Amino acid sequence: MKNSTQLVCLTACLLAWQGIAAPVNTIPHLEKQGTATQLVVDGKPFMALSAELNNSSASSLEYMKPLWPKLVATHLNTVLATVSWELIEPQEGKFDFRLVDGLLQQARANDLHLVLLWFGSWKNGRSTYQPLWVKDHQEHFPLACNSDGKSLPILTTFSDANRDADARAFAALMRHLREVDGRKHTVLMIQVENEVGTLDDSRDRSPAANEAFVRPVPGDLMDHLVQHKDTFAPELLKAWATNGFKTSGTWEEVFGPGKPASVQLYGPDLTDDKKDIYWRQLNWASDEFFMAWRYSMYVNKVAAAGKAEYDIPMYVNSWLQQPGCPRPGEYPSGGPVPQVHDIWRFGAPAMDILSPDLYIPQFAETCARYTRNGNPLFIPESEAGVRGAANAIYAFGAGNAIGFSPFGADRFAGSDMELARAYDFLSSVSPLILANQGKGTMTAVLLDATNATQTFQLGNYKIEAKFWVAPPWMKATNALPERIAGLFIATGPDDYIVMGRNLAVYFTSATNENESVGVGMDEEGVYENGRWVPGRRLNGDEVYEWRALHFRSDRYSIQHVKLYRYR
Ligand code: DGJ
Repeated sequence: MKNSTQLVCLTACLLAWQGIAAPVNTIPHLEKQGTATQLVVDGKPFMALSAELNNSSASSLEYMKPLWPKLVATHLNTVLATVSWELIEPQEGKFDFRLVDGLLQQARANDLHLVLLWFGSWKNGRSTYQPLWVKDHQEHFPLACNSDGKSLPILTTFSDANRDADARAFAALMRHLREVDGRKHTVLMIQVENEVGTLDDSRDRSPAANEAFVRPVPGDLMDHLVQHKDTFAPELLKAWATNGFKTSGTWEEVFGPGKPASVQLYGPDLTDDKKDIYWRQLNWASDEFFMAWRYSMYVNKVAAAGKAEYDIPMYVNSWLQQPGCPRPGEYPSGGPVPQVHDIWRFGAPAMDILSPDLYIPQFAETCARYTRNGNPLFIPESEAGVRGAANAIYAFGAGNAIGFSPFGADRFAGSDMELARAYDFLSSVSPLILANQGKGTMTAVLLDATNATQTFQLGNYKIEAKFWVAPPWMKATNALPERIAGLFIATGPDDYIVMGRNLAVYFTSATNENESVGVGMDEEGVYENGRWVPGRRLNGDEVYEWRALHFRSDRYSIQHVKLYRYR
């Protein structure tokens, strides 16, 4: 044994003997478990059952006071709240953190965690949260331009002054958080900026941007692309392949033409019938890739300056490409949408997570596009209600999510029973879900009346999950949910824990097709303090001739099933 190893062992033994735990990395951080990445808080994996406040709520502690009990009643454990640059640095270099401190105090008093959203240079593509001393001095803090040479209300990424001023303010915030929260860990993560990217044109056309656009793609990016080609997202590869996988050249030479000057955004050029076809495609890839490179490098500098002060997990969120507005500039061009993740990962190594603001109907597909190449799933904005409840369960079960957070908590907190019930339920099952993330023993489905069946394999069984309309004698309610989730955990070779509502589940053998599968034992139950507490033993009508599990139609519930085989 080497001397240093002996010393570590000796210290650990002494600490253990004295009843003192060995020092661990106690600030919130990310850790791998199998294929998943988990958020670890105070030494334990954590599922952030969250909601995001409206943009202006956290600017007033008085406004927040009556909201906290409603947030607690929604069974959240985490609240996403804005910290804006203009409010913490009203005068250049003079910081005021009273609001941040008040927010921390209020969250702690309600036993809630926070994820803070840094509204710095950009919010929804535009620049509105920078202090007046920045807004008013465009000669020093320049704006992006459109193709008419007009300024856009967007700080340009082609300015070190913009970037450095933002990074200084963000670093001051993170330094302050380390001082006031480095031991208590109320703040779990930070969102850096909000939905970055250029709106109203497909790229910045300021003189500095135009000059960079006709220069070769930077060598370090080009080398990275060449070396990592095998693992890239298919969208990026397609744009590159279409132009012959060139290894040098200008952005347009390598990735194809940008937006022609004649094409109007949001205009008649894209007819309604084309909007749906175009939304999963790349349009003007060179413009979008160019902007992704610029935004990722800028955001990286800001994030790295903050991490140098207090290194907790950070993410950037994206305004997704939408069926109605499918072209860059109609959604923020250069933001971390799936087709440019590979550029973002290289341009912004300080960023831990690339996140979707997920309002589009293609929830499962988007989760899949955001977990390619091991990107951890954190959904900072989404819907609440019945769809939100189903989406949350799906995200944690199928996407190994770190957190889920519907937007607009001021409106729904305390009154959204669907979300509150789902969060209460998820919180009771969270030890089991967290224990199974990344191990291949858990999955989930999303179903509705039109996409009513899904079949998959988990462990030794093929499972068919069906959206189920209960017969009259079993219905608890006539109302049918618009969307439901089913979550499946293989707890043994013939043992499953299943969660769902309006769900029927059929099992067949995945190991021997000559064997039939029966339900040996099925019990409903709950988890209390991580322990399974059985309720009704389900049989007869509730198991439909021993063939399938059926779940209540009024709310999510859990069943533990043991299967057996016969020939
Ligand atoms: C997306 C933004 O990121 C949020 O800050 C908020 O403005 C919502 N849109 C409003 O729907």
